[in-house]
Amino acid sequence: MTATAELRVGLCGLGTVGQSLVELLAVNAAAIERQAGRPIRLVQVASRTPKPGVDLQGATFSTDTQQLIGSSEVDVVVELIGGEGLALDLSRATLACGKSLVTGNKALLALHGEELFALARQNKAGIGFEAAVAGGIPLINALVSGLGGNQIGWVAGIINGTCNYILTAMTEDGAAFDAVLATAQELGYAEADPTFDVGGIDAAHKIAIIARLVFGVPINFADVPVAGIEMVSAEDIEYARQLGYRIKHLGVAAGERDAVGNLIAVDVRAHAALVPQDRLLAGVGGVTNAAMVQDNAVGLSVYSGPGAGGRPTAAAVVADLIRVAQGTLPTVPAAIPSEVTGQSVALKALEDTEAAFYMRIPVLDKPGVLAEISHLLSEQGISIESLIQREQAVRDAQVPIVVLTQAVAQSALNRALATIAASPDVVGDIVHLRVESLL
Ligand SMILES: NC(=O)c1ccc[n+]([C@@H]2O[C@H](COP(=O)([O-])OP(=O)(O)OC[C@H]3O[C@@H](n4cnc5c(N)ncnc54)[C@H](OP(=O)(O)O)[C@@H]3O)[C@@H](O)[C@H]2O)c1
Repeated sequence: MTATAELRVGLCGLGTVGQSLVELLAVNAAAIERQAGRPIRLVQVASRTPKPGVDLQGATFSTDTQQLIGSSEVDVVVELIGGEGLALDLSRATLACGKSLVTGNKALLALHGEELFALARQNKAGIGFEAAVAGGIPLINALVSGLGGNQIGWVAGIINGTCNYILTAMTEDGAAFDAVLATAQELGYAEADPTFDVGGIDAAHKIAIIARLVFGVPINFADVPVAGIEMVSAEDIEYARQLGYRIKHLGVAAGERDAVGNLIAVDVRAHAALVPQDRLLAGVGGVTNAAMVQDNAVGLSVYSGPGAGGRPTAAAVVADLIRVAQGTLPTVPAAIPSEVTGQSVALKALEDTEAAFYMRIPVLDKPGVLAEISHLLSEQGISIESLIQREQAVRDAQVPIVVLTQAVAQSALNRALATIAASPDVVGDIVHLRVESLL
C-alpha cells in the first residue's frame, strides 16, 4: 500500500475530544473517505492513562507520545492533550519532522502560533486548528476560505460557552453570578476551576487566533485586553434590558484602515459588552457560540452552533484531517508588515479605542449628586445618551445612577471614571461596560 492510499492518523490525548474522534472516524468512515478521496485511519493512540473501555478501532495504544510522533506508520498527528507544556513540545516535534498537525488547543496557538506557523512553513507541513475556535462551527474555514478573499472589517463572537450560559441564565432567571456558576459547574458547563472561562482568557485566546488569521498580523497575546463576566450583576442585566440591550461576553477583532483600505491598526479584545437587543448575537443563548463577520464583499454574515463538546469538536478535527488527506489544508502565511509603514501593524491600545459605555455608579441618595456626575462627565467631553435613576432602587441610602454615554475615547472615559470614583458621594465600585453596536 502506498503512503497516499490512506491517511494514517496518530492521536495524542484520549480525553473528551480524543474519545469522540475515535468514535467519529469509525461511525462516519464512509462519508469521510468519500470527501477525503481516500480512507482516513486511526493507527496509533498515545495518552497518559489507558482506557480499556474505549474501542480504539484497531489502533495501538501507548503512553509514549514521542514515539507516536516519530513513527513511520503515522502520517499526521492530532494533538488533543491541551495546555502549553507537553502539547508545545509535541507540536514542535511533529512539524519538525514534516508531518501535519491537527489541534484543538487555543492556548497553544494564541501564545505560540507565530513560532508554530513558521515551523510548519519551513517544513512544508500544515496546521489544522478548526477545533480550537468555536468548536463545531466551521468558522476558521469560513474565514480563511469562504471569506478568504474579502477585506474583513471586524469579527465579533460569543466564543465562550460557559460565559454565555451564565449570562443567559442570569438574564432569564435574574439569578446572581455565583449561583449560576455553581449550577453550570454541576451541569458540566463550567470547569471546577472556571478562571479561564469566566475571566475571559479562553475567549481572548480564540479572538487572538482569529485576528492573526484575518488581518495577517502577529498578535502579542500579552497586549490583548481581557476582562471576564465576574463584575456583571443581575442588576446590570436588567438595566441593560431597560436601555434596549443584552449583556454578552464577546471576542472582538477589528481592523482600522486608511482612506484607501490599507490596514493601519488592529483592535483585539475580549470582554462583556452591551449588544443591541435586535442584533442576531443578542438572541444567542445558553452554551451556543456565534460569530458575526463584517467584510467588504458579503457584508454581514453570522455563524452559529455548538462551540464545545466531544462530538462537535471532534467533527472540526475530522474536517481538518480531510483537508490534510486532500492536500488542501492551507498554510498560515507569514505575518505581513503594514502596507503603509513597512513595519508590523500595531495592536491598538484600549485607551485609543472609542465606544459608547454603560456605567452603573452607586451614589449617596441626596440632592445634587446627579448634577455632579453629569458635570464630571462633561468635563471630559462625555455626553449622556440615556440615564436611569430609580427611587425604588434605594438601599441603605444608596442609589445607582445608570448612564449610557455617547461614543467616547476609552482614555476620556478612564479619566472620568477616576474623578467620579474620587467623589465622596460615590459609595461603591463603578461598573462600566462597552456597547458594541455590531453595525
Ligand atoms: N472539550 C471540549 O469541548 C473542547 C472544545 C474545543 C477545544 N477543546 C480543546 O481540545 C483539547 C482536548 O480537550 P479535552 O476536553 O478532550 O481534554 P481532556 O478531556 O482533559 O483530555 C486530555 C487528554 O490528554 C491526556 N493527557 C494529559 N496530560 C497528558 C500527558 N502528560 N501525557 C499524555 N497524555 C496526557 C489526558 O489523559 P488522562 O486520560 O489521563 O486524563 C486526556 O486523555 C484541549 O486543547 C481543549 O482546549 C476542547
